[in-house]
Amino acid sequence: MREKYIVGNWKMNTDVHEGVHLVQEIVKQITTSNTTKVIVAPPFTSLSAVAAVVRDTPIKLAAQNVSAYESGSYTGEISAAMLTALEVSHVILGHSERRLFFHESNEEINKKALQSLSHNLNVILCIGETAEERNAGKLRSVIDTQLVGDLASVSSTQMAHLMIAYEPVWAIGTDKSASSADANEVHGMIRERIVELYGEEIAEKTVILYGGSVKPENAACLIQEEHVDGLLVGGASLVVDSFLRIIEAS
Ligand code: PGA
Repeated sequence: MREKYIVGNWKMNTDVHEGVHLVQEIVKQITTSNTTKVIVAPPFTSLSAVAAVVRDTPIKLAAQNVSAYESGSYTGEISAAMLTALEVSHVILGHSERRLFFHESNEEINKKALQSLSHNLNVILCIGETAEERNAGKLRSVIDTQLVGDLASVSSTQMAHLMIAYEPVWAIGTDKSASSADANEVHGMIRERIVELYGEEIAEKTVILYGGSVKPENAACLIQEEHVDGLLVGGASLVVDSFLRIIEAS
């Protein structure tokens, strides 16, 4: 039985004060009986302050990016070791916004994944197709290219520290979530591909999240699907009540 995860991706929202307030409210109001794993991903500038709030709570901390390089003369970059020193346990990689606006290639995402895993940072790897690609019948090949490229040289042992987030680009921030049946079908396809790459046992254990316009209204329906092991939430994770209702729905 795979554990359920709810991840809040704050993107480039909240300054340090707003971030601390947001996470304090989540910590205060979350029901302790909840067995779902909760992860929040604030901007870099709030990681340290948010870490202090979630310390000794079940909530885990994720960064939204990491450098592909180890250390040294890379102005503006933040290394995996710097993140683990801040008690960051996870990192979101391959988000479509980074692929689109920052031209991150599968090769670069792969380097970041290997760098993270070698520093014991758990990876949340985002993949997904655009509307044009889906309409042109390229869903399977797009997912395949991303998976094979992003996971190159990731070992079977390292796969225990990597989850996949299926985020159809057309569903992100659009209020047009994939239907739960659609999401489940693609998740099943992703799992089949992991079977081919890593074998049945690892594929069965791999957590596959869905992301794209997740709201309290559609969360329960999505997460009850066989292959949907959790949700990656953008906009709705910035509103305490919405985020808590999504956690409860799971
Ligand atoms: P959204 O974003 O929930 O606002 O659609 C999801 C994401 O980009 O991770």
